[in-house]
Amino acid sequence: MPRPATIAAVKGFRDILPPESRRWREFERAAAEVFTAYGFGEIRLAVVERTELFARSLGETTDVVEKEMYSFADRDGTAVTLRPEATAGVVRAYLESGLVHRERAARLWYAGPMFRRERPQKGRYRQFQQIGAEMLGRDDPLADAELLVMLMRYLAVVGARDVKLALNSLGDAACRPAYRERVRAFGEAHRAALCADCHRRLERNPLRLLDCKVEGCRAVMARAPRMLEHLCSACRAHFAALRALLDQEGIEYAVDPHIVRGLDYYCRTAFEVLAAGIGAQNAVAGGGRYDGLVAALGGPDVPGVGFAVGVDRLAETVRVEAAAPAGPTAVVLALEERAVGPGFALATRLRHAGVRVGLEPPGRSLKALLRAADRQGARLAVILGGEELAAGRATLRDLVRGEDRRLALPLDAPASALLAWVEPGATA
Ligand code: HAM
Repeated sequence: MPRPATIAAVKGFRDILPPESRRWREFERAAAEVFTAYGFGEIRLAVVERTELFARSLGETTDVVEKEMYSFADRDGTAVTLRPEATAGVVRAYLESGLVHRERAARLWYAGPMFRRERPQKGRYRQFQQIGAEMLGRDDPLADAELLVMLMRYLAVVGARDVKLALNSLGDAACRPAYRERVRAFGEAHRAALCADCHRRLERNPLRLLDCKVEGCRAVMARAPRMLEHLCSACRAHFAALRALLDQEGIEYAVDPHIVRGLDYYCRTAFEVLAAGIGAQNAVAGGGRYDGLVAALGGPDVPGVGFAVGVDRLAETVRVEAAAPAGPTAVVLALEERAVGPGFALATRLRHAGVRVGLEPPGRSLKALLRAADRQGARLAVILGGEELAAGRATLRDLVRGEDRRLALPLDAPASALLAWVEPGATA
């Protein structure tokens, strides 16, 4: 029979293996540490949601909802979707769990995979990892400032290099509709110079004209009216207060009137963190304020602000190699079949005492087994052969210094005693 073919991962989906996975774990560990200091608790969210949740929150005319969602009918006919982002899910959980009543000013952070059927390229995947934080129940600029200071602190703690914060205000229900009409009128006046996508945006979502990446459109839109010049007085005051707080904390940022964000729930503060040197997909984080979202999802009028960091891209900005894998401290070498049981028992007890221990089964010469232990970077080989078993001793070979020590091997010794002989000076 011919061997069956191997099966490749689905396009745009990938695995993260050691040592890279150790860095991802470190990103999550650092998030827990930094975000906890700011009063955030972790939420572990559902990965599948009702499709309607995203249609209602992200906006029917956004790229994500129009063409990027992994949606399917569950066996009972329910229309469900693999979450393309987590803010909508956080708000759903906030309402469903009753947190909205118990703790209106909730602070929640999350980490996990998101799914968007985009065209895969460097830094853009169909399954990607986000670490995000959402602050509900606060509409004051201090909330935005705290969140941004926390985000920039997090990026510094994990060692993200060459990152820049870009900030904008998108206005609110009072001033944005009129501004949107100005952009539409401006776009109509320059229709001939705009790309086909922008022609569609003109009808459905004219603000997206502002972040089109096509050179010709960018040249036109550079002269478009700017939201910041058309903010209502409340939005203007909010943005000014936020900037003053960021200045006070020494956070550097550029005001970028072209940040409109790809999801419709935003109002007022919108921001992105851009990284140099990681290719075209250079936004490592994005977020902003979404004061109407809770109400749009059936809840009371509760404001919110949040961000998500793209871990796949973050990893590209942190160019330091993951620390070399720490090898086992000791490797137990069972030289013959009889030594397998005692060797396994010994290794288990040491492992449960927290020592990294390798275990090599018989079948090769002592020399080959020692080489295997050496290759793993072990400091010590614990040799168990017939001779050792008969004498109730193990031979310890110091692989660094090349010396042998012979030690009595009480097979039922407590882990603390074993520890003392594999790691002299260490205590359990
Ligand atoms: P977003 O800008 O769509 O915002 O995504 C946030 C970050 O996720 C991006 O800056 C990027 O680093 C990463 N990302 C997005 N799509 C991909 C992809 N296909 N491949 C790799 N990385 C990707 C949100 O998702 C909002 N929920 C953020 C937020 C939270 N706003 C308020 N609260």
